[in-house]
Amino acid sequence: MNSLDVPAELDIFDRWLVTIEARFSIQIDANRQAAFKSALNRYIESIGLDLESLDERRKSGRVDGETWSMLLHLATNHETRFFRSLPATQRIVKLCEGITSPRILSVGCSSGEEPFSIASALLDAGHPTFRVHGTDVSSVCISTAREGLYPRHQGVGLVAAAPTRGDKMRFHRFVREMVTFEEHNILQDRPVLLANPNIVITQNMLIYYRTDTRYEILDRLAAMLVPGGHLITGPGETLNWSNPSMTRIPNSNPNVFQRSVDV
Ligand SMILES: C[S@@+](CC[C@H](N)C(=O)[O-])C[C@H]1O[C@@H](n2cnc3c(N)ncnc32)[C@H](O)[C@@H]1O
Repeated sequence: MNSLDVPAELDIFDRWLVTIEARFSIQIDANRQAAFKSALNRYIESIGLDLESLDERRKSGRVDGETWSMLLHLATNHETRFFRSLPATQRIVKLCEGITSPRILSVGCSSGEEPFSIASALLDAGHPTFRVHGTDVSSVCISTAREGLYPRHQGVGLVAAAPTRGDKMRFHRFVREMVTFEEHNILQDRPVLLANPNIVITQNMLIYYRTDTRYEILDRLAAMLVPGGHLITGPGETLNWSNPSMTRIPNSNPNVFQRSVDV
């Protein structure tokens, strides 16, 4: 983006909002803007700059990739936890029954707790092989996820992770080989590295997008699925979305849609 794209009459913080939203195709929710503003100011101060001087660098193309990644990370909400939605995890395990080596895509996976929860539940259910692929727009989150190192959680059994020093646990290497991560913005056109997933799950990400963008994301996720595959979202996140290739499974919590087998 060049400086001409940012209306000059906006104050400096609003100029940065416009810049980040346009550069990364994201929408920074109004409720999030105050938290973003203080995090942004703290970060910029920590690198010895202020918003105006960083803006000068931006205009002359001198903001490096690491700084852009951090700005994006600060602009988005990454709250997550293990087994945040037990019904969704249980539904995935159920849907995987009868699939020899299921492929599950978790979009907006934050620091990896959601993909590892799914993996842990699949192992507990006796699935020896599967692939869970987590994607997130934040490189900071993806680096954390790839470590597979977290504070211990009682829901994660020894079959999936081993206790380490300092009340932590690390997912076993064989689990980390089946649970992979990728920095990826679902609004951009590059395909994700996991082709033809049986299940796509996205939870607590769509809520940060306006209706038209949510529908665009949902259409993209639907198109990724194998024929007959399932899309899972949090309750209420899909609004009135419909897609000719997808059937909503009635009375399901979380939301579950199935892709037609005839596509
Ligand atoms: C609140 S977290 C939800 C994490 C997890 N799904 C859960 O429910 O606990 C939302 C995540 O979506 C990611 N995100 C937002 N927009 C995205 C996009 N366009 N593409 C990929 N990830 C995105 C954010 O970086 C953030 O880590």
